[in-house]
Amino acid sequence: MKRSALAISASLLGWLLLPTATDVLLAQEAKRATLTIRAGEPGPQISRHLYGHFAEHLGRCIYDGLWVGPQSSIPNTRGIRNDVIEALRKIKIPNLRWPGGCFADQYHWRDGIGAAEKRPRRVNIHWGGVVEDNGFGTHEFLDFCERIGADPYVASNVGSGSPQEMADWIEYMTFGGDSDLAKLRQANGRVQPWKVPFLGIGNENWGCGGRMTPEYYSDLYRRFSVYARDWSGNRLQRIAAGPGGTELHWLDVLAERVKEGVQGISMHYYTLGNTWQDKLPATGFPEKDWYAVLRDALKIDGVLAEAEKIMERHDPNGRVGLYVDEWGTWYKAEAGTNPAFLYQQNTMRDAVVAGATFNILHRHAQRVKMANIAQLVNVLQALILTEGGKMVLTPTYHVFDMYQVHQDAAFLPVDVTTDNSTLGAESLPAVSASASRDTQGRVHVSLVNLDPRAPVTVEARIIIEGQKLTSVSGRVLTAPAMDTHNGFEAPNRVQPAAFTGATLEGSFLKAQLPPRSVVVLTLAGP
Ligand code: AHR
Repeated sequence: MKRSALAISASLLGWLLLPTATDVLLAQEAKRATLTIRAGEPGPQISRHLYGHFAEHLGRCIYDGLWVGPQSSIPNTRGIRNDVIEALRKIKIPNLRWPGGCFADQYHWRDGIGAAEKRPRRVNIHWGGVVEDNGFGTHEFLDFCERIGADPYVASNVGSGSPQEMADWIEYMTFGGDSDLAKLRQANGRVQPWKVPFLGIGNENWGCGGRMTPEYYSDLYRRFSVYARDWSGNRLQRIAAGPGGTELHWLDVLAERVKEGVQGISMHYYTLGNTWQDKLPATGFPEKDWYAVLRDALKIDGVLAEAEKIMERHDPNGRVGLYVDEWGTWYKAEAGTNPAFLYQQNTMRDAVVAGATFNILHRHAQRVKMANIAQLVNVLQALILTEGGKMVLTPTYHVFDMYQVHQDAAFLPVDVTTDNSTLGAESLPAVSASASRDTQGRVHVSLVNLDPRAPVTVEARIIIEGQKLTSVSGRVLTAPAMDTHNGFEAPNRVQPAAFTGATLEGSFLKAQLPPRSVVVLTLAGP
């Protein structure tokens, strides 16, 4: 009796002493990884659209996040926050998906055009039952895309809309002739038609988009896609709403039944590290959560491989792309915020998730043509957080910034042999890596140290013929603790710094990665 009581208190004590995210972790002995970068065997282009984004009418993503309205005292251009525009232009965001998400299948585009004060007020049924005043509609969205230099990706309404409504929306936005809808657009202030290269036909129609069967949705898709037309030189990539996470049966049915009028099938992959019912905290977490979240994030590799096999069967020529148009971490909402608004902090752990995810996406660049992190501002794994007139850039933003060198570059295969990073029964590869060559011949190598405590020594051999690489430079993102984050009171706790831990001798590259870090190196010739 006494012994077991003692045992319980010892294990309790052990538990209490487990490090939490905010403890500064004691560094361990360096781990090792060896890489072979096969720079002479370039693979597919890494589409810049893998660095895409998503903004939904959800919580404070649109309102407060990017739209404050023209009357606001917060500096803005036609209602859009100047600080957000400036931050997004820096990272060259290639595309932006809007208006949802679940919201897309309840959205009626005519609500969001014309004089703002006359627009109808509707209840946002998915996200907290708040009243949507439609202040941000089609013109505001497409204006925002132009300001930040992003291609618009419009998600149309299949769940509660009609093919006619979708066809009208496309005509309104893209038709250059003198139809009534084109004239209406002009009367609302936009003379030239817009270019809208991406059209989603529904969203998660197995769930919030209408709880359909894959067979039923496939039939609807075939019908809707007939009415999704190209006007006035605009060329639509039509994207069918694909599976969520590992539910690949949906993809199998869809890819088999929909062969025409489709250029892409979407897939959503969220990283929870736990269950939907019991989400993990974004900050102040124990070390075991670091492992659980990263383990979950890395699983996207296997899910993509399975999805690719299915698509290969139905589309052996690789005509239809896989669009991972929602991905990212999903934690418990921050205490004191509306749980339906999905507002969460963003830490060094999220930066490591982002870096490792991009390294995986690059490897799937043959089939994966787009990816969109969820979401742009104030929702889930956001790049930007705002509070009134204040704005902070999250660690995830900085990864997008550092990785922009890979946009449209040629994928270079990297063979990785790495020690593992372990905690009890949990085990992760200590290092994740990828490489690309840009049009100027520079080689970019991104390295992520997934170990929360140990540095890693990376030794890489670069196999390259007919080109000399003589210099290496780079940037590093790291932080004192697993959950270090940028707050409104301290916006620069986590930010990239010049990296001096790499050397290049002939074709041998060596780098010392600090614990929990993301490093991007550029190797250039004389
Ligand atoms: O990004 C939040 C929600 O997650 C989206 O609205 C939906 O598509 C997904 O379930």
